[in-house]
Amino acid sequence: MLSQSPRVRAAIIGSGSGTNARALCAYAAANASGYQVCLVIATKHDIGIVDVAQQFGVPCVICADKASFAEDVCAAINNHNIELLLLAGLLRHVASSIVAAVNGNVLNIHPSLLPKHGGKGMYGLHVHQAVLDAGDAMTGATVHLVTNEYDQGRVIAQAEVPVIQGETAEQLQVRVKAVEHQLYGPAVDKFCGELNQPRPSSKTPLEVA
Ligand code: GRF
Repeated sequence: MLSQSPRVRAAIIGSGSGTNARALCAYAAANASGYQVCLVIATKHDIGIVDVAQQFGVPCVICADKASFAEDVCAAINNHNIELLLLAGLLRHVASSIVAAVNGNVLNIHPSLLPKHGGKGMYGLHVHQAVLDAGDAMTGATVHLVTNEYDQGRVIAQAEVPVIQGETAEQLQVRVKAVEHQLYGPAVDKFCGELNQPRPSSKTPLEVA
């Protein structure tokens, strides 16, 4: 059940440098966005996303233990009344209990034009190398709902990036990330707009697809 607050209470969860987390926090701070970042969940202590939380004055919880990961994330979600979970470079499986804890309101950003170059094992440079190996003229980024199948949920927003002939996967990653940072905040905003629409039936937000 969403709160009566005009802004959806979001948590960002990640395992890496946190550049998308920074973009999401900056977007929420600078715009009359439909979401507020109330929590950062990190899978390690010494990663960039922890610094992002500190810079934006957002509480940060470390869920490092793999065995109790789902349980720990659910506890953090419940303790902070989180309504929306935003994946930003999470290198852990998202259990169905985590998805259920936010009524299915889980978004991810993927560095390709899904459904191309998605699925298990497709992350980071693997994705960009696959784009180059396939000879694609166009790649990009996708914000999508998270379901129990990797990268299969409904697409919320996409942005295209032309591939430059002869560039490396690392160079392509830099250019795609710059586009991700522009895409994610507005896409979350759009999704929050959907969540705040009155529903014709008593269905939960999980069933917005
Ligand atoms: C991004 O490329 C995102 O598309 C993918 O993981 C990466 C995270 O990078 N899901 P960062 O930690 O946000 O820099």
